[in-house]
Amino acid sequence: MASKSLLPEINIERLPKHVAIIMDGNGRWAKKRALPRVVGHEYGVKSVRTVTEAAASLGVKYLTLYTFSTENWNRPKLEVTAIMTLLVRTIRKEVATLQKNNIRLRTIGDIKGLPTDAYNELLEAMKLTENNTQMDLILAINYSARWDIIQATKAIAQRVKSGELEVEQINETEISNALDTGHFPEPELLIRTSGEYRISNFMLWEMAYGEFYFTDAYWPEFDKESFYKAIIDYQKRERRFGKTSEQITDHHNA
Ligand code: FPP
Repeated sequence: MASKSLLPEINIERLPKHVAIIMDGNGRWAKKRALPRVVGHEYGVKSVRTVTEAAASLGVKYLTLYTFSTENWNRPKLEVTAIMTLLVRTIRKEVATLQKNNIRLRTIGDIKGLPTDAYNELLEAMKLTENNTQMDLILAINYSARWDIIQATKAIAQRVKSGELEVEQINETEISNALDTGHFPEPELLIRTSGEYRISNFMLWEMAYGEFYFTDAYWPEFDKESFYKAIIDYQKRERRFGKTSEQITDHHNA
């Protein structure tokens, strides 16, 4: 008998606007089944599809998926090639679904550093979906937070050098806007799968006040109900932004 869905427990009025996910555990999921790591990534794509549809239909406005980190280039060459091929194939195959669901594809990261076919495929899919409004699906590819901070710093330094910006004008807003994530609000919720409790060079600046949710499930096992569970857990928490609990309660009652 199928167990009851957690969906009715979600308060639609208090959804996080932006959910970010560190999709982890594809390799271990495959190993447990004596399958090649690449098969784990293929099943990982299924979870990408399920969670994207779940997030969009709930009303989440931004979903960021850590797809390929700057450090992932250090993996065996065969695996890197397989992930890139999977990325190209998935985007080509799923662009119609994105259109149907009114989802806009975006990226963060140094996508110019990707193989040409992957780069072109991404550009084309972004162009095709650019007017969609239900949700932004943001793939972090060739991304790391430190890379982003470095490129933002360089951009700001250039503006100072050219006289467009004074040193004294550098503030949180200027830095946030110069980051590749500058087009999006900061994530209120970051999910990491596979029982690891690290941030792994992801959204270091943006997660200053964000909530973390960890689950032991490997990414290929993470389904719609797992996503609902993370949202419900988030909704039970109190976000204080450095204030006292009383201040937050007063604010709610104001
Ligand atoms: C993490 O598992 C997975 C990745 C680094 C790759 C994720 C890529 C995909 C799911 C395919 C990309 C497709 C789209 C469209 C987003 P791991 O290999 O780090 O697992 P392990 O820690 O168990 O080894």
